[in-house]
Amino acid sequence: MVPLLKKGTIGVCPLWYSFEGKRFFNYNTNAIMKQKKYLLPESEIPTAWFNIQAVMPNKPLPFLHPGTRQPLKPEDLYPIFVEECANQELNQKDEWIEIPDEIRQQYASYRCTPLVRAYDLEEALGTPAHIYFKNESVSPAGSHKLNSALAQAYYAKKQGVTNLTTETGAGQWGGALSYATKKFGIDCAVYMVKASYNQKPYRRSIMQTFGAAITPSPSMSTRAGKDILTANPNDQGSLGCAISEAIELAVSTPNCKYALGSVLNHVCMHQTVIGLEAEKQMAMTGEYPDIVIACFGGGSNFCGIALPFMRHKIRGEKNTRFIAAEPASCPKLTRGKFEYDFGDESGMTPLLPMYTLGHTFKPATIHAGGLRYHGAGVVLSQLMKDGYMEAVDIEQNESFKAGVLFAQTEGIIPAPESCHAIAATVREALKCKETGEQKTILFNLSGHGFVDMSAYDQYIAGDLQDFHISDEELAKYMASADALNK
Ligand SMILES: Cc1ncc(COP(=O)(O)O)c(C=O)c1O
Repeated sequence: MVPLLKKGTIGVCPLWYSFEGKRFFNYNTNAIMKQKKYLLPESEIPTAWFNIQAVMPNKPLPFLHPGTRQPLKPEDLYPIFVEECANQELNQKDEWIEIPDEIRQQYASYRCTPLVRAYDLEEALGTPAHIYFKNESVSPAGSHKLNSALAQAYYAKKQGVTNLTTETGAGQWGGALSYATKKFGIDCAVYMVKASYNQKPYRRSIMQTFGAAITPSPSMSTRAGKDILTANPNDQGSLGCAISEAIELAVSTPNCKYALGSVLNHVCMHQTVIGLEAEKQMAMTGEYPDIVIACFGGGSNFCGIALPFMRHKIRGEKNTRFIAAEPASCPKLTRGKFEYDFGDESGMTPLLPMYTLGHTFKPATIHAGGLRYHGAGVVLSQLMKDGYMEAVDIEQNESFKAGVLFAQTEGIIPAPESCHAIAATVREALKCKETGEQKTILFNLSGHGFVDMSAYDQYIAGDLQDFHISDEELAKYMASADALNK
């Protein structure tokens, strides 16, 4: 028998004990207990979203009508989007947008989310860095996506809309919107990227359990889907294609609007509740982040954690680094171009000024389905262009290696998307180990991966592939955006 308690024991109340060469603290001993979680009461749920457009030194370029090339007004977006969302989208005036009480009431079922100090991850890495994470995986839908889904469903209900349609990659956004629409009594139809539909059957079950109708995309139910399947019957789909299908359904169905899970300004703004809470929680720790990190699909969770802190950088008060972690196989920030492009594959959206790989980009079938999008959010693209943030690309295997380490040290199995943020955090923490600097790193744990276990199985079996994309291939896809910018 291995003795549980060795040296370090004082009287009946051990300060710490060692087990098989590892040291464990006795968390019942107040004298040495380190605070792990920083919690805010429900009364601290933010009362307003932060609209960075109002304070950006260079405002985002306008959305353009693809035919006339004229800048769009909110009314031009009403045929597709819920009106209040369209108004928020182009609002460059109001720094704070009040959150209606009905939405805050729904937020109360999971907000404020915890800020957690990752002591055991720090120890495993042997880093002097202090690592904190904001745990958005505690939402009923399992990710940050619910922060915007509840807002969009609420505004739809208020306008008298009866149906919402949307796309989903890995199923996190679809799951969030399915739940939010159920809460506000609206019907929901979701186009799920076919690769993820097959990889993640339980996400489909979750959406169905919340009451939504799910169609794998591309499908034969829309013109956009038919065109893609006619060209390639084995097409595994992309977010760009699923968006085209959802918009087509919205514009052809009475009293139906389209809801997007990322990229657009209002979606990114709804996510700022994450960073606004984190700001207060970091103050409770007595530290301020030197580095803020999030994974990057279209930019919504990155905006959520980063933008409230970035306003201090814009004002010249702080010099925090903001790092977006994108997959090496879908590298729009690290290898894309800042150009006008469509937000969807078949060209149904307005032209958006963004970092893009070209709207015809076909991403590899990595398990981080939510990061397989060709473009970056409009606000973020401008901030990237202006040097307020940076980006790194992460291979699939590196992301899962970091995700497994996080699971083993901090006890939460992260979503494959979130693994990218953890991998970027590990890189920065190891740099601190080399230099001896004690930096404070904050990352967003955007979701859990409890229904992504087949991906973890593949990683553990050594069967996961990294996907390399050559400059020539990228140039071929970029041509679809370049043609729009002549
Ligand atoms: C858990 C999770 N994290 C991150 C993302 C990436 O999206 P975004 O860049 O909008 O945060 C997704 C998208 O589906 C997701 O499901």
